[in-house]
Amino acid sequence: MKPLLALLLVLAVSTVHAQKFELRTARFSIGDNPAYSQLNYDDSKWSEIKTNVNWEEQGYPQYDGYGWYRFHIVMPTTIQNGNPIRFLLGKADDACEVFFNGVLIGKSGSFPTDKDGYKTTWDKLLEFRIDPTSKYIKWNEVNLISVRVYDGGGNGGLFEEYPYISSLEKIDAITLDPVTAADGKHSFQVKNTLNTPVEGTYSITCTDEDDLSVISKTDNNISLGINESKAIAVPLPKNKTHISYTCTFTESSTKKSLTAHLVLPYILTPKPGPEPKINGAAVSGVRINSPFLYKIPATGKKPLRYSAENLPAGFKVNPLNGVITGQLAQAGEYKITLVVKNSLGTVKKPFSIQCGNVLALTPPMGWNSWNCWGLSVSDEKLKASAKAMMDKGLIDHGWAYMNIDDGWEDEQRKANGEIAANKKFPDMKKLGDWLHSNGLKFGIYSSPGPRTCGGYLGSYQHEMQDASTYASWGIDYLKYDWCSYDQIHTKGDETLESYKKPYEVMRDALVQQKRDIVFSLCQYGMKDVWEWGETVNGNCWRTTGDITDTWKSLTSIGFNQTKQYPFAKPGRWNDPDMMIVGQVGWGEHLHNTRLTPDEQYTHVSLWSLLSAPLLIGCDLSKLDDFTLNLLTNDDVIAVNQDVLGKQAKQVRVTSTYQVWIKDLADGSKAVGIFNLGDNSDVIRFYWSELNVSKTQQVRDLWRQQDLGAFTNMFATRVPAHGVTLIKITAK
Ligand code: GLA
Repeated sequence: MKPLLALLLVLAVSTVHAQKFELRTARFSIGDNPAYSQLNYDDSKWSEIKTNVNWEEQGYPQYDGYGWYRFHIVMPTTIQNGNPIRFLLGKADDACEVFFNGVLIGKSGSFPTDKDGYKTTWDKLLEFRIDPTSKYIKWNEVNLISVRVYDGGGNGGLFEEYPYISSLEKIDAITLDPVTAADGKHSFQVKNTLNTPVEGTYSITCTDEDDLSVISKTDNNISLGINESKAIAVPLPKNKTHISYTCTFTESSTKKSLTAHLVLPYILTPKPGPEPKINGAAVSGVRINSPFLYKIPATGKKPLRYSAENLPAGFKVNPLNGVITGQLAQAGEYKITLVVKNSLGTVKKPFSIQCGNVLALTPPMGWNSWNCWGLSVSDEKLKASAKAMMDKGLIDHGWAYMNIDDGWEDEQRKANGEIAANKKFPDMKKLGDWLHSNGLKFGIYSSPGPRTCGGYLGSYQHEMQDASTYASWGIDYLKYDWCSYDQIHTKGDETLESYKKPYEVMRDALVQQKRDIVFSLCQYGMKDVWEWGETVNGNCWRTTGDITDTWKSLTSIGFNQTKQYPFAKPGRWNDPDMMIVGQVGWGEHLHNTRLTPDEQYTHVSLWSLLSAPLLIGCDLSKLDDFTLNLLTNDDVIAVNQDVLGKQAKQVRVTSTYQVWIKDLADGSKAVGIFNLGDNSDVIRFYWSELNVSKTQQVRDLWRQQDLGAFTNMFATRVPAHGVTLIKITAK
């Protein structure tokens, strides 16, 4: 049977039972032509494509550019219920336009030819509505929905959900979202997006997340006018910190309901004490004759005075901000002692400078602009986050890199081929000098292809020139993103060498620079990059596609980092992508991460156990107390920065929980007990199940509390989607 006939038949039969029609396949062609939106265009020679999987996996490997999907659908009159007709498209990687019988009905993102240029909305679930009274609908006849998709790099096309057509029920038109205002107050926002008013009720249940007891429950009526949105405030119970709210809205005529959940941020870690304390890694790598720069991270009552013992000749410490600078002419290990003083005392910590060929001896820690600012990053925005890094004290816990991601490059190279920054970055060298004078490091982004993923200039055929420009600006870190290298890479060439090549070219350019530039490979894990990243001198390599701020994205990336485990070591790190805490947004409009507080504890714990580079992806100038606390727990950071450089191993997986263990340099182990279930639960296990000896001294790392010795068994209550992170030492 011809596929088109099969599709029409299924729709006709389904009308009897349900008012929702899935569109699992479509007619598909790459290329771009306005005629493709028209009903009378003959697409009989087009191929058939699944609509929930990117086109790369369906015969269009590495294709970037335009593609069209055409759905031929019979519109049965039985779908009418007086409300608009809903076309749930799923996700479109990266931007799309939707036409109904040739008429544009909606758009998401924007195309390179649009006024403001290309903008991706790849991670947005897209819904379009069709007015049932529209003269364009041909009832009980074949209609056409055509979707024009533009892929700006990486995967392309429709993916994740099967599109469907359905009649819109009132409840589908209601949105219910937890909201945290700038002043920290919480509420639920309920909105009616329908063209008629809606009546309903809502209930709010407040629950103690530690023992799951209900603290309060209220029920109320609510009416919502056309497009009206109302804020439902939540009552704050006294003396409770770990609480949640469940809000359920029930639509009166259908009794169908919608539920949203909100767990209030709760702080686990005590504030640093007034006594001086030195934090951060115990080691730093540098190459021969490269400038060395390291800021001693320390907390304690200000003012602090910094010094160091046994410094190599020519090294200096700035006593006021703890920035150590110098240069080494000979390879080897230089053992020094860091010293920090304040009015309450003096503290010392051994520190090793390792001069050789390997950088990033512990995972890089810092900030990257992408997850908050996307392509709108600027000098000003970066400086605002850098200032917050210092003023809020993150720098005192070892956070150091300030990395500009995509969007800094000028439209054209200079006449001599040199890359230049665009207007948003008036003086890169000055910016680098300013960061360095404060003990921060400076990172940048490019692609081995002619264009970056955001459509900016890449380094193709200018690698050496770009590496030396970066060095002249004082760059310390380069993220090198495959993107349009697809166009250079010979189609069908699946040899490992062809995937390594662009990274070898940049490696050779970086190694010739007179400063150290950490090399971060970004090619989403192709060809199991963790197995060969070291051979191109990569210091870290992305193991996955892009992360986003949802539990689904976090877990599908984080808990799948298992086969990479043997490849992490000092200077070589698996990178499951940047952090999704705080205010994120990938553009101008930032929002608070959609992860719950417990999911964020899981995120930071897992990334620390995985020895992942820790790159904060939020606007630090808007850092709230919860996120600051999450990012400044020295016990947790110490797990990430441990000098042994092992990655945690997944040792236990049940249907609801997982345990991951990381060996530490002092012989102890960090253990993450993760509750992946939707309910708070007591998790218990025998030490023997983790293959460790029978009595263990346990420290709760988030609370920074010693819990004592446990023989045979350990038990802990773990919140839904949360974690208990402990350090165990055999007794
Ligand atoms: C890719 C990368 C992201 C980011 C963007 C910039 O999608 O994976 O981390 O660098 O490109 O365009």
